[in-house]
Amino acid sequence: MSELRPETRTVHLPQPPLNGSRPIAVPIYQTSGFVFEDPAVFADGMGRPDGPFVYGRLSNPTVRSLEEAVADLEGGVGAVATASGMGAINSVLFGLLKPGDHLIAQKPLYGGTATAINDLVRRFQIGVSYVPEDDPAALRAAVRPETKLVYLETIANPVAQVADLPGMCAAAREAGLVSVVDNTFASPILCRPLEHGADIVVHSTTKYLSGHTDVLGGIAVFASEELYRTVWHFAVELGATADPFAAWLTLRGIQTLPLRMERHCFNTRELALRLDNHPAVSAVHWPGLPSHRSHPLARRLLPDFGGVFSFDLVGGRAAGEKFMSSVRLALLAPSLGGVETLILHPATTSHRSLTVEELARHGIGEGTVRVAVGIEHIEDLWADFQQALS
Ligand SMILES: Cc1ncc(COP(=O)(O)O)c(C=O)c1O
Repeated sequence: MSELRPETRTVHLPQPPLNGSRPIAVPIYQTSGFVFEDPAVFADGMGRPDGPFVYGRLSNPTVRSLEEAVADLEGGVGAVATASGMGAINSVLFGLLKPGDHLIAQKPLYGGTATAINDLVRRFQIGVSYVPEDDPAALRAAVRPETKLVYLETIANPVAQVADLPGMCAAAREAGLVSVVDNTFASPILCRPLEHGADIVVHSTTKYLSGHTDVLGGIAVFASEELYRTVWHFAVELGATADPFAAWLTLRGIQTLPLRMERHCFNTRELALRLDNHPAVSAVHWPGLPSHRSHPLARRLLPDFGGVFSFDLVGGRAAGEKFMSSVRLALLAPSLGGVETLILHPATTSHRSLTVEELARHGIGEGTVRVAVGIEHIEDLWADFQQALS
């Protein structure tokens, strides 16, 4: 029995050392800080992303496990895990741009990113030019002396256009610009943008990487140490870094990522092909179909075409709404990348900030339905779609 009083013994709990074994699963280091024996080691951990663990906002072993796993999958030198995808995107944009700078982005972008860029423009006098995601000549023409950064998405929402990553990243590099690619829709199983010349990859790990619709998270992966350190400092300052429990759930999801992606892609192919032959359907937007404008590029860049597609019904908006209220298995809900099939109406939800003309320009109809395909049995999904179509 210790000589200390209960008030002290209940505070200083025992921590048995790991003697001769280690846990199979990555543990959740649910602590806000770390204890040191040597003050010099303590000091060493303060100013860098890969030093000793000091304080949870700077680093944590569970979070670092996630960062190392995703840096490895994407082929980067390091990664910064954040509390959400927007945490990663804003840490990169706000961390690398300053007032007076200019960036070039594709359009349309994920709505949260579009809003963040509008804020940069309005509040920080940062200029922006929009170019098509597959037009390196347009990118070259948009470069100004103050341009710093190019922002792309491997596969965009909801009609799944594919960016010409090799062409666009090469044009960015020739002009001395940092290229950032949101790889959320592809995941590193279908595409590794750093291999195509990107400098930074961002993900909403809320989606395929975690995969179970139960956690929010984001990550930025870097091709260079300099970018890694700069963005890490900013994410730490902003307080955008990830929590160990969220990181642990994401790590758990990553263990089945390749298996899930295989099923997401298989189910999507089946649904897209079957809908394309259905008399009630007027168009299917999926880059695996020869009719999709990104098909040649997608075939060159991706081993498969992802788990998100959209389609239009012959009956337009009314038919789209009827379909969405008639599905039973597919769920009417935001987000994507989880095991469940989710559908939504882009014109009134994810893309509601676009005008009717902008929607039309990007191939989004008033009745377009977006499907984020899950990993259910394909025949159960098809039966649900068929009954909703009828
Ligand atoms: C392509 C893409 N990037 C980024 C985000 C933002 O991620 P989060 O919601 O985790 O902040 C999303 C969310 O839907 C997304 O679809």
